[in-house]
Amino acid sequence: MSEPPGEHVVLAAWVARRNDWSGGDHASWAIRAAGDLRLLGSVSVFRIDRDQGDAEIGYAVLPAERGAGAAAAAVRQAAAHAFGTLGLHRLQLFHAVENTPSCRVAAKAGFTLEGTLRQSYRYADGRHHDEHVHGLLSSDVPR
Ligand SMILES: CC(C)(COP(=O)(O)OP(=O)(O)OC[C@H]1O[C@@H](n2cnc3c(N)ncnc32)[C@H](O)[C@@H]1OP(=O)(O)O)[C@@H](O)C(=O)NCCC(=O)NCCS
Repeated sequence: MSEPPGEHVVLAAWVARRNDWSGGDHASWAIRAAGDLRLLGSVSVFRIDRDQGDAEIGYAVLPAERGAGAAAAAVRQAAAHAFGTLGLHRLQLFHAVENTPSCRVAAKAGFTLEGTLRQSYRYADGRHHDEHVHGLLSSDVPR
């Protein structure tokens, strides 16, 4: 029986799929430290809706790389691309209420906590969790 793939392999495969931007519905990046080719994680602006001028943002950082500010820095850069290059108006970010690190990332990247959605998403544990919704407007970001 073969071993399940390690988290680097899973994340690398996910990043490879995200390299295809041809559908125009997402813009996604690997997160790397400056001057260092090591993969730290991934960030994605997805569900891009050109009519509404909005999108969602999501991110993940490998466990060994967490707590060093990688996610917050990546979200700030992805948001700059969403507003500057894509010309979007609003980004929204959802996370399970108990995901305190993700809530901190949202706050550090300048998002406003706008509310709590009740049992709004079924996570990998099979249960629907309450989620925070955070929003960032292009006008929130200093130019
Ligand atoms: C959420 C996640 C991306 C954060 O990545 P990261 O690179 O560690 O994020 P940052 O270092 O920018 O910030 C993490 C913040 O959470 C805080 N934090 C970490 N663990 C915490 C905990 N158990 N309780 C409270 N705060 C915690 C850190 O102290 C830091 O805040 P600070 O800068 O004010 O001290 C990472 O934990 C992850 O990949 N989780 C799994 C995937 C996920 O949840 N993605 C988001 C779904 S929307």
